[in-house]
Amino acid sequence: MEHATQVRLARTLLDHVESGAPLRNDAVASVPARNYTDAEHLAAETARVLGPLPQMVALTGDVPNPGSYVVRELPGASVVVARDTDGAVHASVNACRHRGARVVEDRGTGRRLTCPYHSWTYRPDGTLAGIPDAESFAGFDADGCRLPQLPVAEVAGTIWVVPDGTGSLDADRVRRELGPFVDDFEAIATADHAHWRNRRFELDLNWKLVVDTFLEPYHLGSLHRDSVGPYFHSNLCTIDQHGDHVREVLPRRTITELRELAEEEWDLISRSTVVYSLFPATVFVIQMDRIETWRVRPVEGDPGRCIADLDFYIHPERLQERSERYWERNWELTVGTVLDEDFTAMAGVQANLAAGHLDRLSFGRNEPALTIFHHALAARVGEAP
Ligand SMILES: [Fe+2]
Repeated sequence: MEHATQVRLARTLLDHVESGAPLRNDAVASVPARNYTDAEHLAAETARVLGPLPQMVALTGDVPNPGSYVVRELPGASVVVARDTDGAVHASVNACRHRGARVVEDRGTGRRLTCPYHSWTYRPDGTLAGIPDAESFAGFDADGCRLPQLPVAEVAGTIWVVPDGTGSLDADRVRRELGPFVDDFEAIATADHAHWRNRRFELDLNWKLVVDTFLEPYHLGSLHRDSVGPYFHSNLCTIDQHGDHVREVLPRRTITELRELAEEEWDLISRSTVVYSLFPATVFVIQMDRIETWRVRPVEGDPGRCIADLDFYIHPERLQERSERYWERNWELTVGTVLDEDFTAMAGVQANLAAGHLDRLSFGRNEPALTIFHHALAARVGEAP
């Protein structure tokens, strides 16, 4: 985040810390409970939002070198994101042109992507490189053979893919849609962060509840009272919107230290948590000295289940500066808090909604990011919020 932006946001937050009042938007809002429980609604979300919109699926640090690849399960397709020898990233459908097997799993590095079934090999750009016993495939168009390609773009350390393959995507479009958040990602050297660890969660809740949990700090002082809550000024954040993406800055208790410093020395990043809702299904978090991403996808056909991925990315210099124990503690605190507190509460929400006890969920004026997220969804899914 550029320094001028940090100063502007920090001033606003300090004013609110002083007055004790949260930042509020104009009006309360609400969303139908069926948006979380209805299979037809999920089908519409998938067809109109999760499939056709670009999704932030990886960071540059997932595929740092020529030959690096990472597999992503996206709505409708398993996808291999791979970097070629010229440094360009490609997104190929992870389905061998021979007999349809998944070509690679998880992540790795190699000159070729090798299908385990019959060892057909592909280049990082998805073109076919080799067929064992090629004579048996005389007449097969090996030169024209390529894994199906999806639109992909890499901007400021973030990699975006259109899961259903429709339309086109390039860096200009991603830059336009991210607006000022591109500067934020560049200012923290997102592209230089290395992938550190992943954990996958299979959850009995609607995919939107995973996003919802990051979109307001109102719950910090209650749900997280005994964990991370005490580090923050509860119920206070700034909200900036660009298109359907949102940035919220949650002030840590330490923000008041800024009052003792000249503005030129103000560093908001180390005294806050910065959360980006990268519409529709990714949450990108700057936690002082690391990046944390949450990617979520629904289980097809089941609005009550989803799969979420947590990933930590750490700059090699930060990694060196701190002990292994420090990073392990942060990992455990993050996983423990979200699993035991957020996701446990959200599973209760899902069960209540599924049982039909509530018609609507309400968003306060102190929860504007929730309103933005759900209005953006409603506008695209084609329903009044
Ligand atoms: Fe939370």
